[in-house]
Amino acid sequence: MIVDATVGTGGHAEALLSRGATVVGIDQDPESLALAQDRLREFGERFLPVRANFRRLREILESLGLEKVDGILFDLGLSSWHLARPERGFSFQQEGPLDMRMDPENPITAGDLVNGLPERELARILWEYGEERYAERIAREIVRSRPLRTTTELARVVARCYPPGRQRIHPATRTFQALRIAVNDELSALTEALPQAVAALRPGSVLCVIAFHSLEDRIVKRFLRKEAQAGRLRLLTKKPVRPKAEEVVRNPRARSARLRAAQVPEVPLP
Ligand SMILES: C[S@@+](CC[C@H](N)C(=O)[O-])C[C@H]1O[C@@H](n2cnc3c(N)ncnc32)[C@H](O)[C@@H]1O
Repeated sequence: MIVDATVGTGGHAEALLSRGATVVGIDQDPESLALAQDRLREFGERFLPVRANFRRLREILESLGLEKVDGILFDLGLSSWHLARPERGFSFQQEGPLDMRMDPENPITAGDLVNGLPERELARILWEYGEERYAERIAREIVRSRPLRTTTELARVVARCYPPGRQRIHPATRTFQALRIAVNDELSALTEALPQAVAALRPGSVLCVIAFHSLEDRIVKRFLRKEAQAGRLRLLTKKPVRPKAEEVVRNPRARSARLRAAQVPEVPLP
């Protein structure tokens, strides 16, 4: 039994199912989960979809009557499908509402933060979750431009805060990342889920995490190192595994992916 804690539209789950595994597929986004269910229909009861936040992993497994599992995968963040849906508000390339919720029942949207937070708090979010060096300037400009209604309006406000000249990435990239992390409380969910994952793994089984930005990768790296020092995990990746150049050509969104994996020892390590 493998847990895909971020099943999305089911790509990884399909690969696991077609190799004979039984897969619990968790996602907090009901639309993604419905697409995964549709895609994985042929596997029948070997695919168990669960709509939930993975921060409740222990409870989810208990409710399925599972004490231990044979592997857990986290593929963090957004899916390409999210970015291709302007109405979800994740993309600054296409006009959409300032939403950014993965779970539509989450009461807080990006618009609530952008239009409601004090300037200092907004700047803190942009700095901490976006590592945005112009955080203060952007927060000031956002407050001055309120109310902001759409993703493209926000992207234009952010772009005004950057010095002229060519940027390596779009000026709004870090602001959108920061708001999305705040709206979905992504770093706390990850921090809460990792120890639950280790507790649920049977000896010999593997925990695998794919992170897409340095904040979540740092959480994963520190957690795995601490667990390895305590003898609860054996690191399988000393350095994160990065995609090869040809994969990035095929799938440019993979360019920042970093995979780390660790195994629960068969016998406790000294
Ligand atoms: C990068 S995508 C996964 C793509 C998937 N591996 C595939 O092959 O299609 C991440 C997915 O995790 C979901 N997600 C992110 N954080 C979550 C959380 N805390 N709990 C549950 N699902 C989460 C998102 O809704 C998104 O669908």
